[in-house]
Amino acid sequence: MVSREPKEIGIMEIRNVAVIGLGTMGSQIALVCARGGYKTSAADRSEDILRNGIAGIKAFLKKQAGRWKLNADEEGNLLSQIIPCKDLQSAVSDADLVIEAVYEDINVKKEIFRDVDQAAPPRTIIASNTSTLSISQMASATLRPERCIATHFLIPAALTPLVELAKGLDTSDETHKTTVAFLEACGKETVTVSDSPGFVINRLYLPMVNEAFFALENSIASPEDIDRCCTRGLGYPMGPLAAADAFGLDIMLDCMNSLHKELGEKYRPAPLLVKLVKAGWLGRKSGRGVYSYFTKMKRP
Ligand SMILES: NC(=O)c1ccc[n+]([C@@H]2O[C@H](COP(=O)([O-])OP(=O)(O)OC[C@H]3O[C@@H](n4cnc5c(N)ncnc54)[C@H](O)[C@@H]3O)[C@@H](O)[C@H]2O)c1
Repeated sequence: MVSREPKEIGIMEIRNVAVIGLGTMGSQIALVCARGGYKTSAADRSEDILRNGIAGIKAFLKKQAGRWKLNADEEGNLLSQIIPCKDLQSAVSDADLVIEAVYEDINVKKEIFRDVDQAAPPRTIIASNTSTLSISQMASATLRPERCIATHFLIPAALTPLVELAKGLDTSDETHKTTVAFLEACGKETVTVSDSPGFVINRLYLPMVNEAFFALENSIASPEDIDRCCTRGLGYPMGPLAAADAFGLDIMLDCMNSLHKELGEKYRPAPLLVKLVKAGWLGRKSGRGVYSYFTKMKRP
């Protein structure tokens, strides 16, 4: 007799993780994985960028050690879980889960998905930290679309409780359940939404940040006052202009361009945002964005 009971869907064991792209998000994601007890390999485009990423993790850990109650040994152990690798192939060769955190550009992401698919074992799940792009489209560059999923961590990933997941057209239940279990083991809660531009969080949040740039260029208020309206008035932890500087204005613009292309006119990037990015004012990471982060030079 054929059983009508639904088949129990297994959860794969995750032991080793790889993070591709050790920039703003990748370095925080690597730290989340290491704190969850996972050996975490990391790759980026050059050794210099990798070194910067690791230095950023160290600096963040120093600030956070008190709050996380870490002694020097624990801090060292945590750092030793993150292994910089010279290339993508060596980072993913024994990974059970790969999390991609490179630029918000579908062609770059598809290329990474294709390379990981070729270099990683057949069991490996490939996840993307995309903010706005389609996981089904990235999965189409692989021969394992059922093992692809979006894991949208939010900034700062090491502190934000929620990760937004999106299943692609082919994502299997096993991949989804395994990813949820992995994130729970890393201390995160999850929400799962469908594969749609900007998912839920950025579809709601980015237009508001973009509108803050329109308000600024129309001289409706100063940057500080626009931010204060949101922090003191609406209870946001950070104002939209300060938040955009923290994301990186280039990433913010890539995200708005992607939403604009997929969802229409309402999402057109503010001209001031475009202008700042063209000038190389990318926010905190370049020292200047809406606000300036250069430390004042002391006169001799
Ligand atoms: N910045 C945010 O606040 C934020 C929040 C949530 C999600 N995201 C998403 O996370 C992803 C990464 O954003 P970010 O802010 O960390 O960007 P970032 O520019 O800080 O870092 C991207 C990193 O990817 C590396 N990279 C690019 N191409 C590569 C390649 N071919 N191989 C290996 N490494 C490569 C770059 O060298 C860089 O270090 C994007 O998809 C973005 O939309 C960003």
